[in-house]
Amino acid sequence: MSTAPARRRALISGITGQDGSYLSEILLAKGYDVHGLMRRTSTVTTNRIESLCREARGDGALSIHYCDLGDSSSLRRVIERVQPDEVYNLAAQSHVGMSFDQPEYTADVVALGALRIFDALRDFRTRTGHDVRIYQAGSSEMFGAAPPPQSESTPFHPRSPYAVSKAAAHWFAVNYRESYGLYICNGILFNHESPRRGEEFVTRKITRAVGRIRAGLQEKLALGNLDARRDWGFAGDYVDAMWRMLQQDAPDDYVIGTGESHSVREFVELAFAHVDLDWREHVEIDQRFFRPAEVDDLRGDAAKARAVLGWTPTTSFPELVRLMVNADVARAETELMLAGAHSGVARYSERAAERV
Ligand code: NAP
Ligand code: GDD
Repeated sequence: MSTAPARRRALISGITGQDGSYLSEILLAKGYDVHGLMRRTSTVTTNRIESLCREARGDGALSIHYCDLGDSSSLRRVIERVQPDEVYNLAAQSHVGMSFDQPEYTADVVALGALRIFDALRDFRTRTGHDVRIYQAGSSEMFGAAPPPQSESTPFHPRSPYAVSKAAAHWFAVNYRESYGLYICNGILFNHESPRRGEEFVTRKITRAVGRIRAGLQEKLALGNLDARRDWGFAGDYVDAMWRMLQQDAPDDYVIGTGESHSVREFVELAFAHVDLDWREHVEIDQRFFRPAEVDDLRGDAAKARAVLGWTPTTSFPELVRLMVNADVARAETELMLAGAHSGVARYSERAAERV
């Protein structure tokens, strides 16, 4: 009697984030058992994976484990329990601006958090002989002040505590690969966005404001440096690149980007124009959103990923802007409807109260 081959097990730190949600979807579709690490917070953070949790219930393909990257003991316990084949380290304090306010915490989660994962997996492999493939979420921020285009051979010049911490994690990965033969890939990903992007990153901040201004829920949008240029792609494409890296015979490092850069101003113009609004009437410049040191221009040269991984981006810059604006226009309309229903209920209650 033949037995079905065991399902591959993936462990994802940062599963509740933008990338974690897209990655879970593609791994579940490929038939993986997906395990996610989630930290305890005072409010629920599973909104991005809610539908996956509902759908996956029953066949057990998606499991969530409480674990904070600051806590080695819980991390090691989860690794023992899950016995993963692939580990994707996506967890991070990922906001560059915030890292200037919380440098020590950022370094702890981003740099030491990665080290805790690599070291736990090194011991796990020594003890069990189980080979694990590891993806480390590196960032184009590590290039910082280095002029574009940036490729795998461009030297790092990080410009924030976040970027310095990501560079440390990158070199920990290289060191664990060279010292212990661990299979670790550094993905050096340029900015990638989606309707699931956190609201305090500039693209989502803009598209959310566009939706709300159009619906009459907000009038102004305060932004910082409009001249910064970024290489913006669609997050769904980028998580596919992460998976492809771990399917190669040998571990390596890869730049993932579209090869185009655009300014924040261009993003603003396109986003407002998509709903026939003039951005100049709504955008205000606020010094609070400038950073002590800026990264002026990021543009990725992903030739190696194209050649080795067969990876190419599928979504153009204007398509990305449109799809994000459309999603936020729909959200704002729902918000407006709920606000209307709420004030209707409030007015009804006031009138009812007047009668007694
Ligand atoms: P994100 O939306 O900010 O998600 C970050 C995830 O990390 C969330 O699930 C968050 O949990 C979790 N996390 C934060 N601190 C943690 C801790 N102490 N212990 C355990 N989990 C913790 O980020 P993303 O955009 O998906 O990015 C994924 C990774 O790629 C990050 O490492 C980011 O730095 C890196 N990256 C992103 C981009 C990009 O453009 N998106 C580009 C290059 C590299 P909560 O839900 O509880 O907050
Ligand atoms: N967040 C934010 N808010 N950024 C603003 C604003 C604002 O109001 N106004 C202008 N900007 C500028 C920032 O100064 C920066 O130059 C640019 O917009 C992009 O900022 P973010 O969207 O916050 O992204 P990031 O490029 O700093 O970092 C993102 O991409 C990295 C990869 O290059 C994050 O996702 C990082 O985690 C990721 O590693």
